Amino acid sequence: MSRLEELRQKIESREARIGVIGLGYVGLPLAVEFAKAGFDVTGFDVDADKIRALKDGRSYIEDVPESDIAEVRSKGRFGATTDFAALPRLDVINICVPTPLTRQKDPDVSHMAAAIEEIRKRLRVGQLVILGSTTYPGTTHELFVSALEDTGLRVGEDFSLCFAPERIDPGNDRFTVREVPKVVGGETPLCTDLAKSVFETIFDSVVPVSSTQCAEMVKLLENTVRAINIGLANEVALMCERLGLDVWEVIEAAATKPYGFMKFVPGPGLGGHCIPVDPSYLSWKMKSLNFSARFIELATEINSSMPEHVVDRVGDLLNERRLAVNGSKLLILGVAYKRDVGDMRESPALDVVAHLARRGAEIHYHDPHVREFEVDGHAYKGEELSDAALEGADLVVILTDHSGIDYDHVVDLAPHVFDTRNATREVTVGGDKITKL
Ligand SMILES: NC(=O)c1ccc[n+]([C@@H]2O[C@H](COP(=O)([O-])OP(=O)(O)OC[C@H]3O[C@@H](n4cnc5c(N)ncnc54)[C@H](O)[C@@H]3O)[C@@H](O)[C@H]2O)c1
Repeated sequence: MSRLEELRQKIESREARIGVIGLGYVGLPLAVEFAKAGFDVTGFDVDADKIRALKDGRSYIEDVPESDIAEVRSKGRFGATTDFAALPRLDVINICVPTPLTRQKDPDVSHMAAAIEEIRKRLRVGQLVILGSTTYPGTTHELFVSALEDTGLRVGEDFSLCFAPERIDPGNDRFTVREVPKVVGGETPLCTDLAKSVFETIFDSVVPVSSTQCAEMVKLLENTVRAINIGLANEVALMCERLGLDVWEVIEAAATKPYGFMKFVPGPGLGGHCIPVDPSYLSWKMKSLNFSARFIELATEINSSMPEHVVDRVGDLLNERRLAVNGSKLLILGVAYKRDVGDMRESPALDVVAHLARRGAEIHYHDPHVREFEVDGHAYKGEELSDAALEGADLVVILTDHSGIDYDHVVDLAPHVFDTRNATREVTVGGDKITKL
């Protein structure tokens, strides 16, 4: 029996030892799921604070309860370390490191390159390496195969290599990890097959595809569809503003069509580590093939103009009340990039706050999930949502529609509310005090 066939048996008997490199929003939930499924799991991260937190039993990811960490640790199934020396004892290595953009908006592959290097130095026969970070089509084949075969070992014969995109949606409690099908594409059919066996232990359904490039493109298609359709929803919001229509009413009514329409909503701009970033990985790759990804470029242009549009509308609303942005007291409700999470990465609130502060506004904010943040070298600290804060603001601006906020009360006390998320949809009195995007 080959070493790769042996691995299949180890997976089935749960004797396979699993590693996860990068213990963030994606890696930590994945590591905990494998440990809950009965595997011995080792997590790696370069961030010593994260490792310390996990050793103390603390979770820094809202979707991973501390009770889960306590459970897997008490059973001896989960360890976390900054030391990659443990890699050779692992049978399966998942890579979940960040894939941001550089300042020039090109793919920043440095985290993946660092992870590959740690694996390359210690690769042994029989291991299965699975890349889960979102990236451009061809990354696994171009960056990983050459680096790992540099050891003299051959993919599909001595070790396996796959790409399996992550579909986690932080803050979404409608679907458990298990319920969202997992897509897997390997460098060879055996690689795909082995990764399929691993993922079948924690996912109800695994969808094999024919190559790593196909699996990479699947993920980019999913997020590009979202980015483009959010771009369309944002443009429709701008159209409705000119037409004097309520875009939210239009979208809600259109969404009653039971087929052929998928609901996307406008907002103050894109945020998070995925939707604003991933399509740029695809357009960058296409540029190298002399192909211009026009839908992506257009959606990016519209979506990235939204924070400034919000700032302009704030100026107009203050102007209507004979106030200038300069010196006005603004209370921002919600700064995280989306509802019910504390993630500030690429949050449009950063741009909105920076622009308004540059124009001289006095910014205050309340966000139950974000204690503080910094932009333009200025540190902002969250405040309680007190009656005095609502009454004392010149304008309340809702940038994130967190649940658990009494929007009736907000509208009741605030002099005026600019709602960029339709958070006030159920507010029944004080409609004349609300302006929506
Ligand atoms: N957050 C999401 O909702 C989501 C969803 C689907 C896919 N993804 C993709 O998953 C990947 C990871 O995203 P994330 O949100 O978990 O990022 P994250 O920043 O939350 O976590 C990444 C972790 O990797 C660590 N890290 C960086 N370089 C490392 C290295 N060389 N070795 C070990 N650890 C290293 C960081 O310290 C960090 O803890 C990205 O490619 C992202 O696009 C994210």
